[in-house]
Amino acid sequence: MENRRIFLFDTTLRDGEQTPGVSLEASEKLEIAQALARLKVDAIEAGFPAASPGDFAAVKEIATKVKGPVICALARANKKDIEAARDALAPAERSRIHTFIATSDIHLEYKLKMTREEVLAAAEEAVRYAKGFAAEVEFSAEDASRSDWDYLCRVYERVIAAGATIINVPDTVGFTTPDEYGRLIRYIKENVPNIDQAIISVHCHNDLGMAVANSLAAMQNGAQQIECTVNGIGERAGNAAIEELVMAMETRKGYYHCETGVDTRQLYRTSRLVSTLTGVVIQPNKAVVGDNAFAHESGIHQHGVLSNALTYEIMSPEMIGISRNAIVLGKHSGKHAFEERLRTLGYELDAEAIAQLFVRFKDLADRKKVIFDRDIEALIAEKASLRPEWFRLAYHQVTSGNQTKATATVGLETSSGLTEEASTGDGPVDAVFKAVEKAVGFEVSLRDYQIKAVTSGEDALGEATVWIEQNDRVFCGRGLSTDVIEASVRAFVNAINKMLASCGYPQEDKAARSEQE
Ligand code: KIV
Ligand code: ZN
Repeated sequence: MENRRIFLFDTTLRDGEQTPGVSLEASEKLEIAQALARLKVDAIEAGFPAASPGDFAAVKEIATKVKGPVICALARANKKDIEAARDALAPAERSRIHTFIATSDIHLEYKLKMTREEVLAAAEEAVRYAKGFAAEVEFSAEDASRSDWDYLCRVYERVIAAGATIINVPDTVGFTTPDEYGRLIRYIKENVPNIDQAIISVHCHNDLGMAVANSLAAMQNGAQQIECTVNGIGERAGNAAIEELVMAMETRKGYYHCETGVDTRQLYRTSRLVSTLTGVVIQPNKAVVGDNAFAHESGIHQHGVLSNALTYEIMSPEMIGISRNAIVLGKHSGKHAFEERLRTLGYELDAEAIAQLFVRFKDLADRKKVIFDRDIEALIAEKASLRPEWFRLAYHQVTSGNQTKATATVGLETSSGLTEEASTGDGPVDAVFKAVEKAVGFEVSLRDYQIKAVTSGEDALGEATVWIEQNDRVFCGRGLSTDVIEASVRAFVNAINKMLASCGYPQEDKAARSEQE
């Protein structure tokens, strides 16, 4: 029996970015899009261009630079949104406009305040308009799983006649179950007369923890495209996780008789990159990519795995790109070896980016005996999140102990020179953050802070993540160093630079500052 090809539509950069507290910079989105291209997904939903100028610019940059997958942009069912999607997608090698409108009675009555006939007409008109600009047009009936099935079939029939090449059946609120959703997909297949002219797509949310199961049930009943995100991030409880979908189809090929175009060896790396850049931590027991996914705790299991891994491992770590022998480079490695390693890891970087990374690599190699692939990937993620810097950490110094109050001094470079400040605090991190606040001249609202080791070992690289809040927006900064205080202060300054790039210098503080001067 021949395997059926299933298309994967990744929406990490659109629905995934709707994860509470996540806000990605354009450079970070580009890094993720490039990772998705290496993963070989079929389509990348790069964003929602009408939502903001920043979203528009990010979609355009991805459309310009990312080759391979179809680049898709979201648009509500109106001309303005569709035109924004068209313009942002203009540079793409292959593009798709994705337009949507809700179809459930509850959305019609309370959100859209439209009748079913009005929604039908709006959907048809939007698809016809989008078709004038893109060969591929996807239509989503938002809240499809809570819509009247016969009405839904009428909507799909009309949008296909108007030119939709993909019809999406979202379970917007994660309400459906595998059996019910499977039946809905079959119903659509059997009751939309022109369904052979379109691909059926599914988009499942995980509110009841069934997004992956629902997607697989839909696939067994005729869906050919699955929408998903890396690590399952997304609105509320998130979307179906790409790594789980891919490995379910791969591991149970004999059962599903389906395959994707994904390079499974890129799954782990992509998962880590997305977690680092979004700041969304992966739970240790997360299927496929969690830290414990291949860990065997019980003696009986360990014994079994030692004699044959198949006793307790249904897939190998190597399949998802975790290599058991990951030692790569050290202090004596030259630029050539470093570049070669970047290429082997799948990174195609320009000469300037390689030169910048090599400086950080050498700095790290001076402090750390062996550099693992994960260290190199962490440096790449750090680079993606660097902003044009208002403040650059020149130095920091901290004294602390259990008998003394922690004291910190920092020096921050700005375009107008070096600013130096000192502060005490409840512990070294608090002291150094307070010194930074004094140096930048305004108070920072710290929302969260986290530090973890990138790899194991006494000289492991520490990765600090800091979330700060301004005007109801959260900015996530990252810092890397073998010294955890340095990693923390770098992350704090990085978050401040991101905030300043988006919101500008806080006005009241600026006034207060110039009065003081
Ligand atoms: O969940 C949803 O309905 C969506 C649509 C825009 C596809 O994200
Ligand atoms: Zn969604």
